[in-house]
Amino acid sequence: MTPFHRLENTFEVGWKSPSNLALVKYWGKYGRQYPKNASISFTLDHAHSMTNFIAKPKTGTDLIDLSFKFEGENKPAFENKIKKFFESILDITPFLQEYTFEIESKNSFPHSSGIASSASAMSALSLCIMSLEQEIREDKLSETDFLKKASFLSRLGSGSASRSVYPNLAMWGEHRAFSGSSNDYAIPYYDQLNPIFLNFHDDILIVSKSEKSVSSTAGHALMDDNVYSSQRYQQANDRLEVLIAAMKEGNLDDFGKIVEDEALTLHALMMCSQPSYILIEPNTLNLIKSIRDYRNQTGVPVYFSLDAGPNIHLLYPDEHKEHVKSFIQDDLEKYCLKIIEDQVGQGPSKLNSTI
Ligand code: PMV
Repeated sequence: MTPFHRLENTFEVGWKSPSNLALVKYWGKYGRQYPKNASISFTLDHAHSMTNFIAKPKTGTDLIDLSFKFEGENKPAFENKIKKFFESILDITPFLQEYTFEIESKNSFPHSSGIASSASAMSALSLCIMSLEQEIREDKLSETDFLKKASFLSRLGSGSASRSVYPNLAMWGEHRAFSGSSNDYAIPYYDQLNPIFLNFHDDILIVSKSEKSVSSTAGHALMDDNVYSSQRYQQANDRLEVLIAAMKEGNLDDFGKIVEDEALTLHALMMCSQPSYILIEPNTLNLIKSIRDYRNQTGVPVYFSLDAGPNIHLLYPDEHKEHVKSFIQDDLEKYCLKIIEDQVGQGPSKLNSTI
């Protein structure tokens, strides 16, 4: 067991952590939030959470004593979720029983904008917990081990959050072709990639702001009985290798084919789950059609992806940003409630002041 000393005074820290977009998707899990296949994602930049974390020597008698505010307001449902998360990781971070926590968080993107915030929120929170651990550890962690453990804790909060702790691109899930890959935590994976991908654009085209009718947790569970599940897990692992090869070469055609097919496969799996469900909306299809038509007509390498929801991620290299800007204004904006311009980002950072 790592020896920890007990803090007598207040400890305060804040982290800003981004959302991410999976290029090869994680969909299906087992055990203690382990993925059924390996996945890789772009770390985003503008879509992020900021979390402020205050720990004081414990006063209450509850096992976990914390209060949580989201954008200045009490949110009992989120607070309960965080309490449960803290309880679930006590075997890893037992010191969480010894403090009273005041946690406050906010997102850079508007609330209910249809952007999933669990990856940014859980990674920001896990980084705060790790900063506390680092403060009270007798043997300090190296930066690499600090991030590895932050990714590990993030994974336990929300699988995809494990990938948000690294800049550019991160891979999560054990894969025989990638040494160091692990089901326990994500690893950074961008060193040998063509630099075109390190400032790729990822504009989020919001077509609906409503809550998902089926949560990710329920969606993962439905994969257990999906008749295509075992082929799907194999397909994802195979595709990961092809995608990485394309990203090393800078082969945008292959990159686009895989990324778009991954998005459509994810939604096809939902449609053929028992019970079946559909998260895309008519305007999702209008956007997909417009993006394909524009690409075929102009040759501009612009592609789409989807998360577990109806909103489109529009992906394109920086050198085409002016063309794509006009394309968005002329052909896409009419299908969107809102557009959040984003791109591949540099990963989390510690905040200098309180949020
Ligand atoms: O991390 P979760 O449990 O919200 O699952 C996320 C699943 C997808 O966003 C659809 C895919 C992924 O790999 O991020």
